[in-house]
Amino acid sequence: MCGIVGFTGKQNAAPILLEGLTRLEYRGYDSAGIAVREGDKPPVIVKAKGRLKNLYEKTNDGMAVIGACGIGHTRWATHGEPSENNAHPHCSDDLNVIGVHNGIIESYQQIREKLTRKGYRFHTETDTEALIKYIDYYYKKYNMGPIDAIAKTMVRIRGSYALAVMFRDYPGEIFVARKDSPMILGMEDGEAYLASDVPAILKYTRNVYYIGNMEMARLSPGKITFFNLDGDEIEKEPTLIQWDTEAAEKGGFQHFMMKEIHEEPKAVRDTIHSVCHDGAIDLSAVGLTTEEIRNVDMIHFVACGSAYHVGAAAQYVMEDLARVRVRVELASEFRYRRPILGKNDLVIAVSQSGETADTLAAIREAKAQGIKTLAIVNVVGSTIAREADHVFYTLAGPEISVATTKAYSAQLAAVYLLAVQFALDRGMVDGQTYDKLLGDILRLPEQIEKTLEDKERIQWFAAKFSGAKDIFFLGRGIDYAIALEGSLKMKEISYIHSEAYAAGELKHGTISLIEDGTLVVGVLTQENLYEKMISNLVEVKSRGAYLMGLTSYGNYDIEDTVDFTVYIPKTDPHFTASLAVVPLQLMAYYVSVARGLDVDKPRNLAKSVTVE
Ligand code: M6R
Repeated sequence: MCGIVGFTGKQNAAPILLEGLTRLEYRGYDSAGIAVREGDKPPVIVKAKGRLKNLYEKTNDGMAVIGACGIGHTRWATHGEPSENNAHPHCSDDLNVIGVHNGIIESYQQIREKLTRKGYRFHTETDTEALIKYIDYYYKKYNMGPIDAIAKTMVRIRGSYALAVMFRDYPGEIFVARKDSPMILGMEDGEAYLASDVPAILKYTRNVYYIGNMEMARLSPGKITFFNLDGDEIEKEPTLIQWDTEAAEKGGFQHFMMKEIHEEPKAVRDTIHSVCHDGAIDLSAVGLTTEEIRNVDMIHFVACGSAYHVGAAAQYVMEDLARVRVRVELASEFRYRRPILGKNDLVIAVSQSGETADTLAAIREAKAQGIKTLAIVNVVGSTIAREADHVFYTLAGPEISVATTKAYSAQLAAVYLLAVQFALDRGMVDGQTYDKLLGDILRLPEQIEKTLEDKERIQWFAAKFSGAKDIFFLGRGIDYAIALEGSLKMKEISYIHSEAYAAGELKHGTISLIEDGTLVVGVLTQENLYEKMISNLVEVKSRGAYLMGLTSYGNYDIEDTVDFTVYIPKTDPHFTASLAVVPLQLMAYYVSVARGLDVDKPRNLAKSVTVE
């Protein structure tokens, strides 16, 4: 949902800003812009509609824009169509204040009306223009410094923001503020940086500062000062980022998505070993005690998109293994239905970015009701990670492709480990079963590697169906959760309409959509549901469907029913999602490539959804 960057130092800012925006393009890519200043000269603002390459061209790779202080933005449109005019930076008409913003100013209409009465004019449809002009208004009205003007604005607006602003009277300085949208700051060698996410500045520094909610900062070359809302200075310690720069590169793969699919074994292995020592799970880093685990009455998973599908799988796994009641809910629905939570319930938020607005709101709702929260999060220091009572970090490393793959798999691993520990602590499994389950989890990384070996066959099959109009994914139990994820992967990067159905539900309406040649993907990894699934597949086959079956090695009789089969290694039935999802990710990837689409940056999407 938009990416922002900023730099002030000795070097020319524009190439640094452009490079940072390149690393953030996954956050939005319908237009981009930079504003750069040299000393107290007026700023140069350059904007371009469309992908970042247009801005690179317009600025001659940044070389045509001179100045050592600047801000930049890559946009995912919320207010106003994607256009050069609506692209950031936005400024006051006299160029007194120039800014970039990620988030949404909900009260922007009221601000526009108020400022219009005061003589301000608006030239774009954006909420950001209202925000910038509001800061300009307070700066001039009270003749106050930038920090006070921003603070005054912050307490008067509603919405979310990561904001970076330059003031005409303060050459070489950038002022930032944050509420509910991500932003990190960094400092190295007499220079200072800001960005929406770590990869944007990782090349320059590993020492990163997390700015808190409702805090501000002032950046000058080699210096960052933090302020609270009262304008008082506050101290912060940097966090050392462990990721290497290569983790955020394509590493020889054509797309980040393919690279990240190949990183799944490592992501899962690292996540497992973060809490698994000497043949036992140790959740002390997560902060969950045996007593807390025993006292949980009910678990509520809240998440969005693929992370919600992790919750869907978790519901089956945790209920069955630990015999604890589990509900999974779309985070966007959770808070508006006034959820009834018990005092011993546990709310588990699942999120790669740790910044998804709806998931964050769900965590806050739970906390407001005094309910314990646990976050399964990938991005260290993200808002959800900081606000939850407990954090289970997935160690997937930076995930760049908009379509999640390795983070989803790492989240599944985290859920399995929680489920097995809950099962042990609540007396639902004995030591022997615990060892067996843990052994199966520990084998998953190498089994995922094995699954990847089948990619050429999947590529062939994907090319054959790249022109499909509709694709249906069917499954029962955990296989239904896998079908949900397979279907989302397919539609989000191939733009082919697809639906996931609980196989038993299809005949209650949706089966009328099956026509001659419609591709139906059946997921059959649950032995106890295998025959029922076969019957459901026969039902659609007799209505003309072309069938792909996804099952475990050994179930070779499936070939009597389906037209194309993909096999996965055998594991405990609770953990099959980790293996079955891989061929579905690969299939979506190859269909997207065969259709000539932008795999890593599908239309209309953004990696991190920081608006409701
Ligand atoms: O960062 P999060 O895990 O909270 O993001 C949740 C969803 O936006 C995300 O999983 C989305 O559905 C992906 N694009 C799916 O590939």
